[in-house]
Amino acid sequence: MIAILNFGGQTCHLIARRVRELGVYSEIFSHDIPAKALRKSGPEGIILSGGPNSVYEKDSPHLDKEVLELGIPVMGICYGFQLLSYYAKGEVQGGTQKEYGRKMLSVERQGTLLKGLLGKEQVWMSHGDLVKALPREFTILARTEHCPVAAFENRKRKLYGVLFHPEVAHTLKGMTVLGNFVFGACRAKKDWDVSSFVPRLVKDIRKEVGGSGVIMGVSGGVDSSVAATLLHKAVGRNLHCVFIDHGLIRKGEAKEVARYFRDHLHFEHFHMVDASKLFLSRLKGVTDPEEKRKIIGHAFIEAFEKKVAELERKHPNITFLGQGTIYPDRIESAQPSKAASKIKSHHNVTLPEKMKLKVIEPLKELYKDEVRELGLKLGIPQELIGRHPFPGPGLAIRILGEVTEERLRIVREADFIFIGELKNGGHYDKVWQAFAALFPVRSVGVMGDARTYEYIISLRAVTSKDAMTADWAQLPHEFLSHVASRIVNEVRGVNRVVYDITQKPPGTIEYE
Ligand code: XMP
Repeated sequence: MIAILNFGGQTCHLIARRVRELGVYSEIFSHDIPAKALRKSGPEGIILSGGPNSVYEKDSPHLDKEVLELGIPVMGICYGFQLLSYYAKGEVQGGTQKEYGRKMLSVERQGTLLKGLLGKEQVWMSHGDLVKALPREFTILARTEHCPVAAFENRKRKLYGVLFHPEVAHTLKGMTVLGNFVFGACRAKKDWDVSSFVPRLVKDIRKEVGGSGVIMGVSGGVDSSVAATLLHKAVGRNLHCVFIDHGLIRKGEAKEVARYFRDHLHFEHFHMVDASKLFLSRLKGVTDPEEKRKIIGHAFIEAFEKKVAELERKHPNITFLGQGTIYPDRIESAQPSKAASKIKSHHNVTLPEKMKLKVIEPLKELYKDEVRELGLKLGIPQELIGRHPFPGPGLAIRILGEVTEERLRIVREADFIFIGELKNGGHYDKVWQAFAALFPVRSVGVMGDARTYEYIISLRAVTSKDAMTADWAQLPHEFLSHVASRIVNEVRGVNRVVYDITQKPPGTIEYE
């Protein structure tokens, strides 16, 4: 295992993922973890991540210095590199010229860390401070135009560092550098792939749960489906899955999800709860987006708790609550960014505090791509694994303004046509997410010879890597034209279709 100490850098997760891509398991720890605790978790190497601070700032994050004396190889990246220099008594200075973006690295000596790199290599920089003078007993490996020391190592003390970011794709030989550290310096074995994890996961679940029952809410999305399938593999008929149909789901969705779990994955206890009346009545007359989200969140908990109470009466052995939490969810909620302002209150059900059930989260150590891979290994159909993300509040946030049965029908039909055509045209898997939304205003049109006065449907399709930023998908004009014409002709109540060409930021992917 390679431990990554998080100094608040945006690419900390990326470092962890890249190490896993190399075939070595990695975990993220807080930057101030005591050396003893770190040693106990048994890392073969330690990486100090980048971060936004300067090492001389008053409140800048530091590490337990003993970490450097454990005899375990340490590699500093960017801020981590400056920290290493600082501790080794090198000279760190505020740079007069900040370096940001693609830069040319001049490799002076390959050493262990830069093995396989040529004299000049493209790297990605993002830093203000510079290491002016090399710490004693360190060997300089590379420089850039403005940085006299851009990579160094001290093999005797097993300390290594680079000022650039090897984890980002713009550093063309970044994986080579990380590999040099992980395999060359740490001598780690290449033995991580997610399928090798399955027996351990199943064993751990069995040990924890014993003969108890587990209850779990599933949405038909990737994370909860994979978590439930894994739990099912471990505890079989002691797993009870509950799907709350809030009435805000897509056309045919309830049937489709039930088919996966009952017929394909052979779950013994799959419970479908039709709570649409509850949700629709609560949403009546409500137009404010945040209020809609809150109402849906509360109603969800209410409906779920009711079903749980009923199942607990029937199956008194239920003591666990399964959740589809994945690694980034956990790390991000443990270290919320102070600077982040609230854009939307995302509805990801946090049930446990209120319920007297013990939480079990079998995917809590995995990244999304690993969850997908695991899902396929567990026999979940590609169709489900490859599904676009669907927000917790469902179609309610794709109907701007008040949610009514009529508007739900319209947006459902339009979405069904759009998604069906995307699949037929081979576009579905190329976009991150696509959907139809309804604007609650009417515009004038003409159909046959008559005047119409109907709703507007907006089609949104975006490309993205992680939903943090997104671009509108450049779908072919003929394709969009075909979809628009089908919607206007087939969906009663719509006479105009627009295509949204807003990026995120400044737009968001969803409308509310
Ligand atoms: P935005 O609209 O914030 O969406 O750009 C980013 C991604 O998050 C999804 N989304 C949600 N997912 N619960 C979820 O589980 C929510 O309440 C929620 N709101 C938005 C959205 O579909 C997109 O993929």
